[in-house]
Amino acid sequence: MNCLISAGPTREWIDPVRFLSNPSSGKMGYALARAAVDRGMQVTLVSGPTALKAPAGAEVLYVETAREMQEAMSQRFAKADLIIMAAAVSDHRPETRSKQKQKKEQMRMTLDLVANPDILMELGKQKKNGQTLVGFAAETENLLPNARRKLREKNLDWIVANDVSEKDRGFQSDFNKISLLSKEQNEMDFEYQEKNSLARKYTSMLLLAT
Ligand code: CTP
Repeated sequence: MNCLISAGPTREWIDPVRFLSNPSSGKMGYALARAAVDRGMQVTLVSGPTALKAPAGAEVLYVETAREMQEAMSQRFAKADLIIMAAAVSDHRPETRSKQKQKKEQMRMTLDLVANPDILMELGKQKKNGQTLVGFAAETENLLPNARRKLREKNLDWIVANDVSEKDRGFQSDFNKISLLSKEQNEMDFEYQEKNSLARKYTSMLLLAT
């Protein structure tokens, strides 16, 4: 069985020394990749910039921008049985990327942004029978309603609802507390625990359902 996972942040460059990004460490996606390898899956990990070691046994494709991540994910998508979009994709990028470092005196004090593609939404449109598509919902409020809306709007089979408002979980942390919601309205709440053990538990769940 083939498993395709994205992890980490994307970087959207303003010029060669500045970018827009987010605090994602990639730990959850890498833990998922390790758990899927341990379950005997063929794993491809599409990773934004992180400080983590490549998970043994997985093929890793390194990308930086949302558009590079989209290209890597769509190339591998058709062959994948289980696709988990754990990356924290930057929703926007600067309208222009300057080739030269911009000097501070000459920089405009506002940044013009354009929308990045919603990678998961596009994968949801291409999904075929037999493929299981899983997304994350990183929320600071209205966690479950927002997660259910994303599950529906992005045509997902499962969504991992992740409260990122607390310091002791989510972005950067080794720990997390999540709920797994299915399109059939099932809800499984997992206890607060290390991302590694969490990944093992819900990878097993997802495999049973794939
Ligand atoms: N996602 C994506 N491409 C984007 C933005 C998000 O593929 N441009 C994916 C994420 O990897 C995640 C899911 O969509 O699996 C939800 O991401 P999240 O940041 O929670 O939500 P958004 O769709 O960006 O919506 P909002 O920022 O309004 O909460």
